[in-house]
Amino acid sequence: MAPSPTQEVALIGADGKLGPAVLHALLSAGYRLKILKRSSSRSSNSYPPGVQLARISDDMDTLALKDALQGADAAVLTVRGRMRDLQMCVADASIQASVRRFIPADFGSCDSSSPQAQQLTEVRRHLIHLIQHLDDPDAFSWTSLTCGHFFDWSLPFIHIFPEEHRSDVLDEGEYRVSFSTLSRIGEAVVRVLQRPERTANRMLFVQSFCMTQIQVVAAFEKASRRNWEVRKLDAEAFKEAEMAKADQGSLDAVEELVWYLGTVDADWTARKDFAMELLGLEDEDLQEVVDGLVGG
Ligand SMILES: NC(=O)c1ccc[n+]([C@@H]2O[C@H](COP(=O)([O-])OP(=O)(O)OC[C@H]3O[C@@H](n4cnc5c(N)ncnc54)[C@H](OP(=O)(O)O)[C@@H]3O)[C@@H](O)[C@H]2O)c1
Repeated sequence: MAPSPTQEVALIGADGKLGPAVLHALLSAGYRLKILKRSSSRSSNSYPPGVQLARISDDMDTLALKDALQGADAAVLTVRGRMRDLQMCVADASIQASVRRFIPADFGSCDSSSPQAQQLTEVRRHLIHLIQHLDDPDAFSWTSLTCGHFFDWSLPFIHIFPEEHRSDVLDEGEYRVSFSTLSRIGEAVVRVLQRPERTANRMLFVQSFCMTQIQVVAAFEKASRRNWEVRKLDAEAFKEAEMAKADQGSLDAVEELVWYLGTVDADWTARKDFAMELLGLEDEDLQEVVDGLVGG
């Protein structure tokens, strides 16, 4: 029997970097939306008309979450990926509240299922643990989206510095890298909910485009009408240096390792679960996106 369609979505993390794009996409697609947030949260309470807001005690215990999740068909988490305990609680509460689809806070730059990602970043290990935890009840299902680096959130995070007209690339800058804009990720969440059967219990890969770093730099050069300085970093030496810093507790180094992994091993087009066709999505135009970023 086909599952009944998703009508109401609970969103947790609506006020972060990714949350607003997901909120916008869900509302545009006609879903009823309920935002769950902590009582102490200081982020804005101003949401479009019709959006419900449920405040929950700061410890976000499973019982309070279960009450708040009643009536939701799907729960989407856009909280920080390292919030493992919160994700576990929301997952358990979703099962108890008969929420049928759970979309965890993955949205990764790198592939959580790859041994290298699990070795280098704790968040990726957490995510796999969470997914194993979910692989259980009958009426419940999950979908995890891996999207590559956010392209329009922080260019410096991906070593692109438009103000200084320069960029770093790993090795020769020829690794093919899947990137996603925030709006693409919002769109992908909607498409998953619209295709409950084919997307159930799967880690899917989406993108706005898959380009080499050199191609990305060329698009910025074109948009800014000038040549850029390109610094070539030895990928292996970069990884070793950042691993040593991460071992000393540096969180910046962990972020650099995410950049490394999401560059050298992030061509989603080659992945078995590359889902652009399944989700009815097409690539965006790199130059158009870059022109928008440089111009706007
Ligand atoms: N692929 C990439 O390049 C990339 C980059 C960044 C993030 N990500 C992924 O995208 C997802 C969203 O990350 P993000 O950076 O957008 O998150 P974020 O900006 O850190 O947003 C955090 C959100 O979570 C809420 N929150 C914070 N602490 C909470 C708590 N203790 N309990 C409940 N809610 C809490 C915040 O609510 P209040 O503001 O209301 O307190 C806010 O809405 C994560 O899975 C992350 O790993 C991917």
